Amino acid sequence: MPRTHRNAVAPAYLQAMAWVRQALEPRRRVVAFRWWMAVAALSGGCRVPDPTPAMPLSDVTTVPPHFPEAVFPDEPPLTRAGWELGRHLFFDARLSVDGSIRCASCHAPALSFSDSVAFSRGADNAVGFRNAPVLVNLAWQPRFHREAGIPSLEAQVLAPLQDPLEFNHDIQSVEEVLRSDATYQAWSEEGFGRPLDAYVVTRALAMFERTLISGNAPYDRWLQGDATAMSEAALRGLALFEERQCIECHSGLWFTDFEPHNNGLHETYVDPGTYRLTFDSADIGAFKTPTLRNLAWTAPYMVDGSLATLSDVVAHYNAGGAGHPNQDPRVAPLGLSDLEKADLEAFLLALSDSSYVAWAQTLVPD
Ligand code: HEC
Ligand code: HEC
Repeated sequence: MPRTHRNAVAPAYLQAMAWVRQALEPRRRVVAFRWWMAVAALSGGCRVPDPTPAMPLSDVTTVPPHFPEAVFPDEPPLTRAGWELGRHLFFDARLSVDGSIRCASCHAPALSFSDSVAFSRGADNAVGFRNAPVLVNLAWQPRFHREAGIPSLEAQVLAPLQDPLEFNHDIQSVEEVLRSDATYQAWSEEGFGRPLDAYVVTRALAMFERTLISGNAPYDRWLQGDATAMSEAALRGLALFEERQCIECHSGLWFTDFEPHNNGLHETYVDPGTYRLTFDSADIGAFKTPTLRNLAWTAPYMVDGSLATLSDVVAHYNAGGAGHPNQDPRVAPLGLSDLEKADLEAFLLALSDSSYVAWAQTLVPD
């Protein structure tokens, strides 16, 4: 399933022309160069057993024209073999101690890599205590997890692996289990020049995750100049989103400032949020502002999944929050009419990219 901002089904010569154009465009040059490197590596005697249909790197690294350039680390370089290993690891239940859970169990492709329940189940049926977030445009995220305490995607991989409520495993045992997989070993050598180990597992997963790029929602098409992409209601909702200060925290193309705030969800918090990191009482109930992309698939909402629908979310903000002492002053009663509430909701839904979710489902290995 091609994503509509790219040209995946064009005939070969059109595709080749597109790559040439891409290679000439400064912001794409790095990616295009790496693509050619990957082609050269693969055509130099296809050593990697590949059970899946071809998915060229150019198809997964293309950035929508209105996004800034994606930053892929130089080391290790993005390669087809490394990316394939990451993709397969994401769907591999051998990462969990009892072989029952994969990353995709909580980050389901059909739900824009989130879950439909408030708290997902980990290995041995353990129940977590936070709602699984959507995985989208991670290449541009500076900090991860709800309290924004994890500085890189590579480091983040260790969190679910070792968490007793998630995989309940350890990286050494995972290495041992995966080392016997000949295909993984081949990808590891080809992509990283070394046998499969903790370095390879964390880098491969992060490499795959950086290519989860979503920028084809009605709002994106509207930004690109399609005046009909958003409904009248969604356009009125956008004006409200700006006027009523939502945009203060849900800012920019990612709809987040990546900073922790208390949005007044509760009067008292079971999960203390960023306080877990800082032990500063001013951080109780503060959580990293989440992106608002792809909300159509990510209910229930908030860190504890306590709001079932988007109307519940709008009602929460309209009421002005529960009044925790740390509540940010920009969350205050809004006095929206029923029509305005519906407009705001229409705008939030216009940030949902169905081509991303359709494409995400083609990533599931056979
Ligand atoms: C049992 C469910 C579960 C599994 C399995 C799981 N995750 Fe998560 N994931 C979560 C939850 C819950 C959070 C939020 C954690 C927090 O903030 O403390 C999260 C957070 C994340 C984040 C941070 C997102 C952000 O915006 O800050 C990334 C990235 C991520 N997971 C990737 C993965 C990868 C890769 C795997 C497999 C190695 C994985 N997850 C396995 C439930 C899960
Ligand atoms: C002071 C900063 C701030 C303001 C202002 C703000 N939000 Fe939020 N928003 C947050 C934070 C922080 C969260 C996450 C809280 C949590 O997970 O418990 C959040 C969560 C959300 C969510 C749930 C996302 C999800 O995936 O669970 C939606 C939807 C949302 N906000 C919409 C809005 C709208 C609409 C407005 C304006 C009426 C608004 N926000 C104003 C900080 C803010």
